[in-house]
Amino acid sequence: MSLSIRPLHPSIGAEVRGIDLRQPLSPAEIAAIEAGMDRHAVLVFPEQEIDDDQQVAFSRNFGEIELSVAGDLQKPEEKRLGIAFADVSNLDRHNAIKARDDRHRLFALGNRLWHSDSSFRAVPAKYSLLSGRIVPARGGNTEFADMRAAYDALEPALRAQAEELVCEHSMIFSRAQLGFTELSAAEREMCRPVRQRLVRTHPVTGRKSLFLSAHIGGIVGWPIPEARDFIRELTEHATQRCFVHAHVWRAYDLVIWDNRQTMHRVRPFADTVEKRDMRRTTIAGDGPTAEQAA
Ligand code: OGA
Ligand code: MN
Repeated sequence: MSLSIRPLHPSIGAEVRGIDLRQPLSPAEIAAIEAGMDRHAVLVFPEQEIDDDQQVAFSRNFGEIELSVAGDLQKPEEKRLGIAFADVSNLDRHNAIKARDDRHRLFALGNRLWHSDSSFRAVPAKYSLLSGRIVPARGGNTEFADMRAAYDALEPALRAQAEELVCEHSMIFSRAQLGFTELSAAEREMCRPVRQRLVRTHPVTGRKSLFLSAHIGGIVGWPIPEARDFIRELTEHATQRCFVHAHVWRAYDLVIWDNRQTMHRVRPFADTVEKRDMRRTTIAGDGPTAEQAA
C-alpha cells in the first residue's frame, strides 16, 4: 500500500496511512510527509507501534532534535525518558502516576493552555512528534488551532498592527497564569524571556501566521496590562472552533504538528487516576523569529 493523506478538517489536520514508521523511509515518503505538513500543519499516523529508538530515528528525517536539557524542571536523575524526549506523560521515572501535589505535575498543567512548543526558546520548534503509548479511556484530547487561518481572518487594521509587534515569551509567564510561581533562582535564569515576532512567515509556503502562545507575557514597547489584554483578545479570536481540530487519541497514534503555524493544548482527564504515557520528540526550527521580517 502506498502513502495516502486524508484531510480531517477544511484547513488543519489530515490522517496518513500506508506507511510503517518503524522502517527507514524513502526520500519520496519523507518529501510527501513534509508536503503534507506544509499543507495541513497537523498529521495523524494511526497504528504506529514504535519504540523510543524508532521514534528518534523517524524524527531525525525532519531536522535536528531539540534536547530536553533546558526548558524542563526535571533533573537528569529524575527523568523517565532519554534527553531526546520531552516527557509529557503523567508518570514518574518508575512509571507510577504522579501525585496530585507533585511539582512536575503542577508545572505540566501549563500544557492545558494554548501554546506553541518552545516559543520560549530563542530558536523555537519546527515540528513536535507525539506518540501516545498509553492513552486514557476518557478525555486528554489534544486540540490544534490553525494560526494561518486565524491570521487571514483578522480585520485588515488589526493584521497591520500585529505585523509590527514583537512579543516576550517565557515559561514563567505561562506558569504564572495558573498560579505556579515558585521557581528557584536557577530556574528563573533558565526561563529568561526571549523575543519573537507576532506575525511570522512560513519558510516553505510563504504563508503568514499568528505566533501566539501562553508563554507570551509582554509586547516590546507596550505597557504590560495592555499587552496581555491584546494577546488575550487575539488568542480568543485564533482559537474559535472553526480554526480548531481536536484529536481523540487511540493507543499508538503518532501526531506531528508544525509549531510555526499552529497552537495546541491538551484537554483535562483523570490524571491522578489513569495513565497517559505520551512521548514527544521535537525538531528545532531554523533560527530566531525576532529579526525575521514579517
Ligand atoms: C506537548 C503538549 C499535548 C498532550 O506535547 O507539547 O503540549 O496532548 N502536550 O499531551
Ligand atoms: Mn506542547
